This record gives sequence, C-alpha cells and structure tokens, in this order.
Amino acid sequence: MPSADEIRDAQRAAWAGLSASWEKWDSVIMDQLGPVGAAMIERLDIAEDQQHLDIASGTGEPGLSIARRSPKGRVVLTDLSAEMLDVAARRARAQGIANIETEVCSADALPFDDAAFDSVSVRFGYMFFPDMAKATAEFARVLKPGGRLCSSVWVKPEENPWTTIAMQAIAAEAVVAPPDPDGPNMYRCAAPGDVSALYEGAGLQDVAEWDVDVELVTRSPEQYWEMISEHVSLAVAALQQVDVPARERIRADAIAKVSAFDEDGEVRVPGVARCIVGTKPATNG
Ligand SMILES: C[S@@+](CC[C@H](N)C(=O)[O-])C[C@H]1O[C@@H](n2cnc3c(N)ncnc32)[C@H](O)[C@@H]1O
Repeated sequence: MPSADEIRDAQRAAWAGLSASWEKWDSVIMDQLGPVGAAMIERLDIAEDQQHLDIASGTGEPGLSIARRSPKGRVVLTDLSAEMLDVAARRARAQGIANIETEVCSADALPFDDAAFDSVSVRFGYMFFPDMAKATAEFARVLKPGGRLCSSVWVKPEENPWTTIAMQAIAAEAVVAPPDPDGPNMYRCAAPGDVSALYEGAGLQDVAEWDVDVELVTRSPEQYWEMISEHVSLAVAALQQVDVPARERIRADAIAKVSAFDEDGEVRVPGVARCIVGTKPATNG
C-alpha cells in the first residue's frame, strides 16, 4: 500500500500530465459535467458575498460558476496540481472573472483558518485523496458553523458507459489490473452511502445524496475516442501499457462500440454521478 506522500506525488504527476488535454477538450468536458456543477451549486445556497472554497478545482469548476454568482464574494480555487490551476486561471481571465484566487494544496492539509468559508465544493475530487476522512475533517474545520459542503463522485462503471466502452476495448488487448479499492481511482467512491459516512464521521448534519444524469456529446465516434483516450485518467494510464498496433485495435473497437450511440450526427453517451451535501452544525455541541 503506497504512503500518503506517494499517492500525492503520483496524483500530482498524473494531473500535470493531463492538464493540456483538459484544456484542449474544455468545452466538451464542461458540457458533460455542467449538470453536476449546477446541482451542487443549487444546494450550496450561494449568496452575493459568499466566501467559498473549491477543492480539487482542476480547470476551475464549479468554483468559477460560483464566483460568477457571487460578485461581492471571493472564491478560492485549490488543487494539488499547479498545472491544472494554471488552466483555471486562464479560464477565469477569459471569462472576465476576477473575484477568485488560486492556491496549490492537498485536500487533506488545507492552509486556511478554522471557520473561514461559508461553503465548500469538491466536484470529482474525493476519489483521488490519500485520506478521504482526513480531507473531510479539513473541509468541516474550515467551514463556518451552518456552512455547507457539497461534493460529487461517479457511481459504478456499469452506469457510466462513457468510460466503460473505452475501458472494455482496452481490456481486450491489455491486462488492466482491477483498481485498489482503497487507492485513488475514478470509481473508488461509487458505493452509495460511502461519502455520506465520511461527512457524518466529520460531524456534518442533514447529509443527503442524490444522483445526477450526465451525457457526453461528441461530433463523431472518432472524436469520442480522441477525447477519452487523452483526458480520462483511467484510460490514459491503461493505454500507457500497450504498443502502437494494439492501440490502433483498441481505437477501432471503441469506435465501433460507441457508434451504437450515434444519433443524427452526434454521439451521446450517458453516465451518472452522485452528489452529496451536508451542513456543519450551527453551534458546537
Ligand atoms: C477529475 S479532476 C476534477 C476537476 C474539477 N473539479 C472538475 O470537476 O472539472 C480531479 C482533480 O483532483 C485533483 N487532486 C488529486 N488529488 C488531490 C489532492 N490530494 N488534493 C487536492 N486535489 C487533488 C487533481 O489534480 C485534479 O485536478
């Protein structure tokens, strides 16, 4: 079992390597994940002067959308990867959003005072943290009493054909080791109730979880393969193990399979995410 430092180092390197692809495919990724960000924001009750912390912000969402809704507020975007946050800062400038700052840090060791924020968001970050309970305790610590935490994770692979089509094509050519259930991977938090239990363990109340449908829309099966093979952490890692001819066979297989989702010139592949919300008790004790 790798140490927390080893997990952080591996994640930092992996996401530094993925940052250019996330910027390249920004509009497709943001359209796919947008409904999840919107569902999270709805439960966070954002005021115009909100002090908000976005964890594992990556290229900036949902932090940038929250900053736009909170013109007199301040949003701190944090991530382990400086390269991902550089993309977030470029996206903020391009969108004319100035009430943000960025801070490179790990979710399980936050450089902020106790009770500094009205709300905390974590979109698709939980599954990569070395110690999810320690990170949740940090989120509770930096929340003001009465403040809310909302996060999202992926439900099981069977409900997310947008990744399983590619992963099954890869598995036909390469031995893809099953992910360590206790180590970072996209589907680590898929079991219902897992993240809620972390929230309750950190003393949060009124914890609720609900599922949100997403759809990955690309212009063609070929574009589906190009973007998945370049930006999905699981696929990128697995493809590093195969040679060029095998990669070509995988590409052809994935394109053939995803063609079943081709409708009127667009490929629309479904998926399901889970959102989890909780509130820090208004008073201690
Ligand atoms: C799938 S991306 C999510 C990005 C963004 N929130 C979104 O939904 O578009 C996951 C992010 O988690 C970050 N991450 C991984 N381990 C982390 C850690 N220990 N602390 C903070 N961020 C971490 C990665 O660098 C990456 O940017």
